[in-house]
Amino acid sequence: MLPQGKFPPKVFINGEIHSFEEARISVFDRGFLFGDGIYEVMMQLENGIFYKKAHLDRLQNNLNKIHIAFNVKEVERNLEPLLRASGLVDKSCLIYMQVTRGIAARKHAYPKEATPSVMMYALPYALPKVNPNKMNAILVPDVRWHRCDIKSVSLLGNIMANEAAMNNGADEAALVRDGVITEGSHTNIFFVKDGTVITHPANEHILNGVTRMIVLQLCQELGIPVLERAVTEDEIEQMDEAFFTGTTTQVAAIAKLGNHVYFHGEQVGTVTLRLQQAFGKLRSKETSGLTFETYINPQTI
Ligand code: PDD
Repeated sequence: MLPQGKFPPKVFINGEIHSFEEARISVFDRGFLFGDGIYEVMMQLENGIFYKKAHLDRLQNNLNKIHIAFNVKEVERNLEPLLRASGLVDKSCLIYMQVTRGIAARKHAYPKEATPSVMMYALPYALPKVNPNKMNAILVPDVRWHRCDIKSVSLLGNIMANEAAMNNGADEAALVRDGVITEGSHTNIFFVKDGTVITHPANEHILNGVTRMIVLQLCQELGIPVLERAVTEDEIEQMDEAFFTGTTTQVAAIAKLGNHVYFHGEQVGTVTLRLQQAFGKLRSKETSGLTFETYINPQTI
């Protein structure tokens, strides 16, 4: 018996589509043995898959970083059959994709002849235009490795931090490495000080979120100054506003971070609110002077 929960209707594995109960992988898959694989999460919304190219480019980039020889065009080609089999064509849904190095006898070094394993699914998932949640986040030491730019399926550090947040009745954990806030357990984090948006630079200590990049682009369009620098734990209380970003989180106002309260009730900060509204508009057809495909510079992913 599988545990209850929100499983997807169908699962794509290496060219075949199965019911979720019947979807199987080998115990010798290196994703299972070593966490040797890359994943991606994107949303299909009313205008199609939101920033599909940015997500697929990042998947390709990450696979290249760990030398998994795989062309993401294969994933892209199979999205439509998966959505069709799942009854989710043109429906709001979350799309999860992962590519591992494949099946091989257990040895640490990369096997010479493994064929990458591909798994993906689509899950019905509705997102409001603006995330109404007022986030309460705890601070957790960032015990992860030094290649957080790689969207690896090994997420132990992230899930331990998120579990700590849940156990403390919080919504998210903000990670602290060497006295600076890096990112959330599954989100990027932004601060606002005197009208300037501040966020950790996209280096090896954070995942460069697609939503992060969209928000930085929106700041440029709205004339909001940006500083890409790390904020220290000591500076939290000097900041005026803070928010998390992520594919399912969108732009979420932080009401409380650690012991510091940014706002009570519904009083979301003005810059956060502006960005939330601008982000929400990206989904509506009226604003489609921009194309999702070209909005983000692939060089920055
Ligand atoms: N998480 N940082 C981390 C550690 C993440 O896991 C994520 C995404 C982000 C935000 O990236 P993006 O804006 O591209 O979603 C930042 C995904 C959604 C997840 O693990 O489910």
